[in-house]
Amino acid sequence: MSEFTQPKATFADRKRKTVETAEFTEDGRYLRKVRSFVLRTGRLSEYQKNAMNRHWADYGLEYQNTPFDFAAIYGNENPVILEIGFGMGTSLVEMAKNNPDRNYLGIEVHTPGVGACVALAVQENVSNLRVICHDAIEILRDSIAKQSLGGLQLFFPDPWQKSKHHKRRIVQPEFIRLIQQKLKCGGFIHMATDWQNYAEHMLETLQNNGRLQNQSPTNDYIPRPDFRPPTKFEQRGQRLGHGVWDLYFIYQS
Ligand SMILES: C[S@@+](CC[C@H](N)C(=O)[O-])C[C@H]1O[C@@H](n2cnc3c(N)ncnc32)[C@H](O)[C@@H]1O
Repeated sequence: MSEFTQPKATFADRKRKTVETAEFTEDGRYLRKVRSFVLRTGRLSEYQKNAMNRHWADYGLEYQNTPFDFAAIYGNENPVILEIGFGMGTSLVEMAKNNPDRNYLGIEVHTPGVGACVALAVQENVSNLRVICHDAIEILRDSIAKQSLGGLQLFFPDPWQKSKHHKRRIVQPEFIRLIQQKLKCGGFIHMATDWQNYAEHMLETLQNNGRLQNQSPTNDYIPRPDFRPPTKFEQRGQRLGHGVWDLYFIYQS
């Protein structure tokens, strides 16, 4: 290749620019949305890029404006557990490996994390996992059928610490209503955070939804469960001396 030739953009390179769908107002203006994420510029390593380019057909799903057919995607009727914001995917892959009787669907907008998760899933030979690189709110709204999920996992979502940024927190009453619609009766919502103020906000928002039953014996948080592998952000928080709050609710229709 001459020094003036641009390297050809691969599938993984292009994917970085398509994590949301442009929407417009009735009079044709671009609709600015409050997002729970900022796209970080971290480079995809060759390892992550190769994993995405080679294995997307096995592990990747794309945004679609009709609901996914989970039985066709996973080849079985096992419950589908959705995890939003899986980061680098280490705990998600471990959970998928530990629970072969469940199907896992991970959504993450950070492409290097998606590449790392696919690479690890290949290495661990995990077949009950699919990943999506797109805004989870759009996926939930358009690509997931009502009453189709066995559970929702949200581990260490961005805390958006300043009050003026709280509107960017993914946990909002509207988000909980959307999740609740997508859960099967008996499905769970499991959240964890290392930010006390966000934990209190999560608790209040979940408790204000009359269809969700708190599984905490003290009606607030549950002890950290052994079945949740430590995540990268959790470990970082521990090094900084942060606490951890787990919340576990069941949807009863
Ligand atoms: C603080 S990190 C935690 C990552 C991981 N769960 C962990 O504990 O290590 C939050 C992640 O959520 C992702 N995220 C935030 N909003 C999202 C959205 N609407 N759709 C998909 N991913 C999102 C971010 O890209 C980020 O990687």
